[in-house]
Amino acid sequence: MKEQNIYILGIESSCDDTAASIMHNGKILSNVIAGQKIHEAYGGVVPELASRAHQQNIVPVVDQALKQARISKDDLNAIAFTRGPGLMGSLLVGTSFAKSLSIGLGIPLIDVNHMQAHILAHYIDETGYAKPPFPFLAMTISGGHTQIVRVDHYFDMTVIGETIDDAVGEAFDKSGKILGLGYPAGPEIDKRARNGNPKAFKFTKPKVDGLNFSFSGLKTAILYFVQRETQANPNFITENLDDICASIQYTIIRILMDKLKIASHQTGIKHIAIGGGVSANTGIRQALKEGEKKYGWTTYIPKFEFTTDNAAMIAIVGYLKYLEGEFTQPNIAASARLKI
Ligand code: KG4
Ligand code: ZN
Repeated sequence: MKEQNIYILGIESSCDDTAASIMHNGKILSNVIAGQKIHEAYGGVVPELASRAHQQNIVPVVDQALKQARISKDDLNAIAFTRGPGLMGSLLVGTSFAKSLSIGLGIPLIDVNHMQAHILAHYIDETGYAKPPFPFLAMTISGGHTQIVRVDHYFDMTVIGETIDDAVGEAFDKSGKILGLGYPAGPEIDKRARNGNPKAFKFTKPKVDGLNFSFSGLKTAILYFVQRETQANPNFITENLDDICASIQYTIIRILMDKLKIASHQTGIKHIAIGGGVSANTGIRQALKEGEKKYGWTTYIPKFEFTTDNAAMIAIVGYLKYLEGEFTQPNIAASARLKI
């Protein structure tokens, strides 16, 4: 193959992070993210505020990404952007920006599915991180998603399980809200869980068919449990916070791992890759390591900055599609409910 020298700009704006990244031949040169603190006060993402913040952030974020990569926009070979799924108002900002820039520079435009990108983030060239061989199972767990996907090739993916209500990150965040923790609560629950007893309190696991998940019942169970206990002892939460966090986390991990175990058993696939913000969780990482010993799994966790919402994962998909000559037209529309 001819020696290639490909620069891709990736743009991500599906939720509350405005992100841009420059990739050169599969390696990341810059990965810039502007988060949106404004949502913390509301305990969740407010769509109107998110799209307004994207509008303010997108130009400086792309500018930063180019500067950090030490290239000019004229060096770019293509622009990849998140087409969906996500919040429509947020997606529109990234989509329109990507379209205009590609027209202005006269270079190809590449549409990217955000959920595929979380999975293909594993193919970013990064020293010390192995790329999962096909076929593998990918579990994408974040504030917005919970899926198990069978991956037979880069763009040959099948969703074999997903949440029927809340995402796993929401289960962490909403439980944290009940306990009076800040938003997002996942990292603090994780931290406190390390000092708590995971079997101190028992929460029942939901019964959901097949490989699908449900987390909304757990949130309600925790709410009633906390209300009941605080009636008897007003200091119940503060006196037991570490144990409560450990027990909630233990239940969530059991729900995830039980389904992953069945998925691996049913498909006979032992290469397991995870992604999404919740994959930072210490307990989940430990459970995956145990899976290596118990079930002979090989597990893959990307570098942290590529697991949460980011544009490097959009750029790698852009690069893979560029190599295939898979470009899109400027009349393409954002799609809030885009499927894998
Ligand atoms: O991927 P991400 O940054 O954004 C999207 O939701 O797309 O994921 C954020 C989610 C939040 O729900 C947050 O509470 C959760 O990931 N999270 C964690 C941990 N770190 C982040 N949940 C549990 N344990 C953690 N260490
Ligand atoms: Zn995401």
